[in-house]
Amino acid sequence: MNIWEERYQNESFGWDAGTFTPGLQEWCDSQTEVFSNVAAVGVGTGYDLVPLSKVAKHLFGIDFAQTAKNRFLELVKPSLNTNAKTEYLLENFFEYSPNQPFDLIWDYTFLCAIDPSERQAWAETMARLIKSGGTLLALIFPVVEKGDGPPFAVMPHAIHALLADDFELISCVAPQKSHEGREGKEFLTQYRRK
Ligand SMILES: C[S@@+](CC[C@H](N)C(=O)[O-])C[C@H]1O[C@@H](n2cnc3c(N)ncnc32)[C@H](O)[C@@H]1O
Repeated sequence: MNIWEERYQNESFGWDAGTFTPGLQEWCDSQTEVFSNVAAVGVGTGYDLVPLSKVAKHLFGIDFAQTAKNRFLELVKPSLNTNAKTEYLLENFFEYSPNQPFDLIWDYTFLCAIDPSERQAWAETMARLIKSGGTLLALIFPVVEKGDGPPFAVMPHAIHALLADDFELISCVAPQKSHEGREGKEFLTQYRRK
């Protein structure tokens, strides 16, 4: 059993905010476009699939922890916008090969959960999974000086540099609202796949 599955089974999931991310909801509310294929990676219980289900035709939650999926089915699935066809895929992000690349990928607290030595592979996998012209939307957290993780500290400029070969930075802003206790430690970043 991997460490994440064990954490869900032991209910030691301090990262789980119990609701969707306010900054993501704001972003989704501001969209006029409906995206064809959308994925949320390292999605956990999957609350963020609720706002995403309003801007997606086909929506995928991706995580490799079975108990997180079970929680999604019980706690979140009933609240989804049924216009979006939604699937929760039990997959390893780094190994996943979809039939077609995504128009939009959302990352919140997945990047900070993986070991920093895997960040290059994270950037390369994002480039592989997102189609040219597509969007990577990441809420970068925790923007703090340092500290052992997870969550491992993340600095926006380091992520911009990591993605620079394959992505153009569109915006990097502090969200208006954050989960309690995370205020001032987050940046909502949007990149366009070259
Ligand atoms: C800190 S949790 C965040 C979960 C969710 N984003 C949230 O905010 O509640 C990190 C998640 O990433 C998942 N995860 C870690 N490594 C993964 C991998 N290689 N492939 C897929 N999921 C992974 C874990 O199972 C866990 O659900």
